[in-house]
Amino acid sequence: MPLKLRNPRWTKVDAYVEDRLIPPDPILDAARKASEAAGLPDIAVSPAQGKFLHLLARMQGARRILEIGTLGGYSTIWLARALPPDGRLVTLEADPTHLKVARDNIARAGLSHRVEQRLGPALETLPQLTGPFDFIFIDADKENAASYFEWSVRLAHPGTAILVDNVVRDGAVVKPRNDDTSSRGIHAMNEAIRRNSRVTATTLQTVGRKGYDGFMLAIVTD
Ligand code: SAH
Ligand code: DHB
Ligand code: MG
Repeated sequence: MPLKLRNPRWTKVDAYVEDRLIPPDPILDAARKASEAAGLPDIAVSPAQGKFLHLLARMQGARRILEIGTLGGYSTIWLARALPPDGRLVTLEADPTHLKVARDNIARAGLSHRVEQRLGPALETLPQLTGPFDFIFIDADKENAASYFEWSVRLAHPGTAILVDNVVRDGAVVKPRNDDTSSRGIHAMNEAIRRNSRVTATTLQTVGRKGYDGFMLAIVTD
């Protein structure tokens, strides 16, 4: 990435929000610690973002959730906790080390019965899935974002919500450099959505402890 904007005030406000709105949670703390101890990259959603995902999935009344990009399962736990007792979440991950760390974190959270983990590049596992899903979180390699979005629409029903992480990238998405394949992937996804009459979407820019980025939220209309 060309630059990484950081502002201590953004981090302070996230800490303030966490103190007041996000109760201490030993299971989520343990998931973060285990991910760090295993050497996973520190790129999971923040606590405020994780709770935001959880609230969106609850608003949606989601019973079947699909996640593309598990890492250590931090966002998985937030999302799976939004499910009713008979709800199910499928999460896709290409890296077997990440999958194992996530498996232990999900087990510690008591969510193994609701979560199905699939190993392999998502472009290989997505064609094996049976939809429809009610809520889909796209958070894997950004290069393939347009394909993941297309697959998500295929695995959706009218009313399905699709949330995509990291769609702003310090603003780089507006004019991606040639070597910035992540931003180019997000840009390609946005261009495809522009031509897709089956979805309606917007992007919300975000700041916080992860810097300056954004979420795209889409709804499948028919
Ligand atoms: N959703 C997680 C963070 C995911 S980080 C959280 O917020 O807690 C992105 C993950 O996508 C990494 O674990 C990476 O290994 C995985 N990934 C990268 N390329 C992939 C691919 N082609 N198929 C599936 N997963 C992929
Ligand atoms: C980064 C952040 C993410 O949320 C992600 O999914 C991938 C990479 C990053 O900051 O590099
Ligand atoms: Mg992300």
